[in-house]
Amino acid sequence: MKIRWSKYINAYPQKDSVILFHSVSRCVNKISKEDYEMINNVLAGTKPTDDIKKVISELYVDKCIVKEDEVEGEMFKEARKSRDYSGECAAYFIPTFTCNFRCPYCIVDSTEHGTENKKLTDEEVITMAKWLKQYVIKNNLKKLTIELFGGEPLVGFKQDILFLKELHSLEEQGIELEFNMISNCYLLTEEKVDALIECGLKSIQCTIDGPKEIHDKRRILASGKGSYDKIIENIAMLENKSVSLVIRINIDRDNAPYISGLLDELGERGFAKIASIGIAPVDPPVADSNISGHTLETMQYLETIYKALRRNNFRFKMWETFCGHGVEHFFVICPDGKLYNCPSFAGMKGYEVGNIYEGGFFEDRPKVHEIPDKCYECSLVGVCSGGCYFTKTVHHLNDDYCLEVTHSEMIKQYISNMYGD
Ligand SMILES: C[S@@+](CC[C@H](N)C(=O)[O-])C[C@H]1O[C@@H](n2cnc3c(N)ncnc32)[C@H](O)[C@@H]1O
Ligand code: SF4
Ligand code: SF4
Repeated sequence: MKIRWSKYINAYPQKDSVILFHSVSRCVNKISKEDYEMINNVLAGTKPTDDIKKVISELYVDKCIVKEDEVEGEMFKEARKSRDYSGECAAYFIPTFTCNFRCPYCIVDSTEHGTENKKLTDEEVITMAKWLKQYVIKNNLKKLTIELFGGEPLVGFKQDILFLKELHSLEEQGIELEFNMISNCYLLTEEKVDALIECGLKSIQCTIDGPKEIHDKRRILASGKGSYDKIIENIAMLENKSVSLVIRINIDRDNAPYISGLLDELGERGFAKIASIGIAPVDPPVADSNISGHTLETMQYLETIYKALRRNNFRFKMWETFCGHGVEHFFVICPDGKLYNCPSFAGMKGYEVGNIYEGGFFEDRPKVHEIPDKCYECSLVGVCSGGCYFTKTVHHLNDDYCLEVTHSEMIKQYISNMYGD
């Protein structure tokens, strides 16, 4: 039988070993440099020793090595399709587009949304929750995950609470609920945290973009003031609360050099005990934008950032493009009752895919986010997913669009720092 490396394998040589990362299955294998060389020789036609046969069979079981004629694109297609049949619904709830911050890079452009200052009435919140409950039941779904989003979800705190409370009756029908919040955390008080936890909130994601002097230039209150001290004080309060904390750090060439310093500072304050870290390059993911963090100039700081994460014992995940656009039970509920396929489109005229006040999703809701054929051949596709549909749409990008340069650097740095010698 003729065999070859899977096209989804990425090999990262270390001092004495080679790490093999399968981007679709996420399987990671570490083998010695000699074994790696011998396998390449076997794949080129050399007769294998018994020892190397054993290594090859193990890699074959993990699909790192596959039959020469294996149609691997199907594996990724199936993985994508299975998201439609997972029995789960993930909905973003935007209680308001209003925000108390003016972050210069913010993806939410409130002028475009035109619903700023609109406050949802209790009746409207209840109508939205009722529609969602019916949707979950009608589609026979087993789990509902809610992300409280915005604008700033804590500006719409009262509406958040009412919405979450209304959903609880789903549990009586055996439907699992998971509630999370993505917030700048400036308005977080102990009273609000307790109320959210009582409603079942499981996690809070808060963005911190650098040490105080850097963060305060990027995460700016509407008044122009910085927000660092208040945010740190507020999230420190979560230490004794039964809610998990994710600190998100948006990086670009301006703040990336300072992130290892921030991580040391957070580590010294004991945040590794309560928080995990997510590093995300500032969007849009196109290198010619002057605000984008998706550049090699930014990526060159990743090594020091990952080292700082390790030395401070932070838990951290790999950055990836999660594009939920087109996943059947993934959508966004906006304050005016309109539904969107993705939070980045939320509020943008012409991209509505439904309206709660008009009976839910439109007949012609676009469901499929097709990715170019070339992406099925790419070793990074499991992490990149062919890129972000929103970016490709609003920037009018064609099939030549590719994130390979920065993505491969991000993944290499992550894997090498997690599993390296
Ligand atoms: C739009 S905000 C809304 C929720 C809340 N106001 C907040 O800042 O967390 C949602 C998330 O998008 C992130 N974000 C905003 N603009 C971004 C950009 N240009 N690139 C990457 N992430 C961005 C924020 O850091 C936050 O994690
Ligand atoms: S706090 Fe969130 S919504 Fe508000 S401006 Fe900043 S990123 Fe945008
Ligand atoms: S956009 Fe580029 S890096 Fe991403 S999956 Fe397609 S070919 Fe690969």
